[in-house]
Amino acid sequence: MSDHDAAQQLAAWDRDHFWHSFTQMQEYEPLVIAAAEGCELIGADGRRYLDGASSMWCNVHGHAHPAINQAVVEQLQRAAHITSLGMGCDTTVRLAKRLVDLTPAGLDRVLFSSDGSSAIEVALKAAFQYWQQCPQPRPGKSRFLAFGAAYHGDTIGAASVGGIDKFHALFKPLLFDAVYAPGPDRCKLPEGVAPEAACDHYLAETEKLIAQHAHELAAVVIEPLVQCAAGMVMHPPGFLGGLRELCTKHDVLLILDEVAVGFGKTGRMFACEHDQVTPDFLCLGKGLTGGYLPMAATLTTNAVYDAFLGDAASGRALYHGHTFCGNPASAAAALACLDLFESERTLQMLTAKVERLGERFCRLAEHPNVTNARQTGIIAAADYTADAQVGRQVAAYALEHGLWIRPQPGMVYVMPPLAISLAEIDRMMDVIEEGIAEATGIPFATGAAVP
Ligand SMILES: Cc1ncc(COP(=O)(O)O)c(C=O)c1O
Repeated sequence: MSDHDAAQQLAAWDRDHFWHSFTQMQEYEPLVIAAAEGCELIGADGRRYLDGASSMWCNVHGHAHPAINQAVVEQLQRAAHITSLGMGCDTTVRLAKRLVDLTPAGLDRVLFSSDGSSAIEVALKAAFQYWQQCPQPRPGKSRFLAFGAAYHGDTIGAASVGGIDKFHALFKPLLFDAVYAPGPDRCKLPEGVAPEAACDHYLAETEKLIAQHAHELAAVVIEPLVQCAAGMVMHPPGFLGGLRELCTKHDVLLILDEVAVGFGKTGRMFACEHDQVTPDFLCLGKGLTGGYLPMAATLTTNAVYDAFLGDAASGRALYHGHTFCGNPASAAAALACLDLFESERTLQMLTAKVERLGERFCRLAEHPNVTNARQTGIIAAADYTADAQVGRQVAAYALEHGLWIRPQPGMVYVMPPLAISLAEIDRMMDVIEEGIAEATGIPFATGAAVP
């Protein structure tokens, strides 16, 4: 069979048998990727696409990095999987220690899971259980406060603190009831609120709700700095620090969901570093393994952990964990990923890339159909003022021209791997500009791209 025929065969099997996640299959056009290298995905037909969304926000150092591949292979030669239930594996133990050393002081305990949703489930269940059996139990503290169009995953617990109707509304009868504060969107401010007053405004709104519900709130859960699935909603600077103070003041635990924003995406290793915040729970996923293998982690404090101690008959243990949690091959990828942050000086190298991306999004905002250009680290987004189809048309144009971005009805966003080069940022943004010009019929006034 020729390469062309083999690619056609795969596309047909993909259409006929593969039910893709979060995808309306009636409209699905097969896109089968056979390999990936650096910041590019390589189709079964040999076509190359710049990975503008870091394979759903998880790739960090580029695809097929030899150091990560080698670490995984070496681990597989020793052991592919060792359970975390009642025992541990040396590689995963090393990762636990490394994560404790890397995250804010005070997060001393790590529970591993296999994906971001599970990391959130762990935090929700542990927060709930904490209040049942902490030194002064307050079993009434059993609810959670979340923000606006939050997305914390699609399992039933994680969806219960989610706010995206398109994903969650149908399942309402299956979900528990959370309290919602307004999403602290620094771009779309309520009428009468000036940008410089945004942080205080959202904190005041949040405090009203926390104060009202403190007696029944186990925890507040938030995606710090950027709510990605909500449409790259970015928060006013200082909101996270203020929220930490509110949680402490009202005796409510704070769960930070850094599944999407952790591991450098905001320009710092963890988003909570921007406001020097230590949460009660820190949930990590996606980039933890460099985006190579499934693994997530929930870190917490000794104060929380100690409430779960007792003899075997006490029933105080956390009865949560899945077969593959703490998988050694994933842990090996995670350790190699963390080594690369040091050896390749990933965060130091990021500064110039963040700056270039910012320049390019400023330029994007000069287009008459583009507004609300915003950026946090390597995450950048803008909204379209033209009709909702523009987002899809731009994504389709991008695909035709060698760039993979997720089609979004009213907006464009990018979150490439941290390994992206300046030249690749320019290529990515050139294609997006061309796509916008074609979809709207209005070219960019300034002609050539920023050097
Ligand atoms: C902030 C956030 N939390 C949790 C999740 C769920 O992670 P997973 O898809 O690995 O279950 C996601 C996924 O996109 C996310 O963006």
